Amino acid sequence: MKLEIKIIQADHYEEMSRLAAAQVIQLVKAKPDAVLGLATGGTPIGLYRELIEDFRANGTSYEGIHTINLDEYVGMTAENSNSYASFMKENLFSHINIKPENTNIPNGSAENLEDECKRYDALIESFNGADLQVLGIGRNGHIGFNEPGTSFSSHVHIVELSQNTREANARYFPSMDEVPEKALTMGIASILKSREILLLASGHTKAQAIKELLEGSVSEDFPASALKNHQKVTLIADQDALQLVRL
Ligand code: PGA
Repeated sequence: MKLEIKIIQADHYEEMSRLAAAQVIQLVKAKPDAVLGLATGGTPIGLYRELIEDFRANGTSYEGIHTINLDEYVGMTAENSNSYASFMKENLFSHINIKPENTNIPNGSAENLEDECKRYDALIESFNGADLQVLGIGRNGHIGFNEPGTSFSSHVHIVELSQNTREANARYFPSMDEVPEKALTMGIASILKSREILLLASGHTKAQAIKELLEGSVSEDFPASALKNHQKVTLIADQDALQLVRL
């Protein structure tokens, strides 16, 4: 059977965010003890805003939900305002009724990073992967912090961030020098363990990556192409991100 990425077209970022939120909310209602795989970055902020609004308006409960985040910068404590732990608190966790002890993010400031990778792997294993993994895509096709060349059989590991990724993330830091050089990330195999994957893309800076994903071959040189080996991937993308693709 040929595996196909299901494509949902959105007019703009807000619509992409609403459509993604509808899928997450549907799962949370259908499975109150679901495991959500979550992502950071500019792309999912609108989705998280929608979830918060829905929580306030409709009381969708996250009491039994567990989360596993994709990645964290090496050297950053959870308290650091640039950490992904802070990002998640600020953009989602502190606004809904999820139990802090049910949220999981790799510890980038662990004394022994190899042990931390093993711990996080075992955690993902204990959940048997996420029920639904939310993903963004890097301009170079990375998913999580899996840069081009990463093995499709990779588990949680330490990565050297590419120049391209550090430049893309520099907007969050006072200067380029302060952008971390390393991160801990779920591997490609960890991501593919999810029962379902929701890939989000918005804006013209993602257009080339989306074209490569949909029209290119499956290769470790383009990490997101691994998603074509998964049986249940939905891409929700806006017109700007889809502008180079003929649908
Ligand atoms: P972005 O990052 O959402 O900030 O564009 C996505 C990614 O790099 O995976």
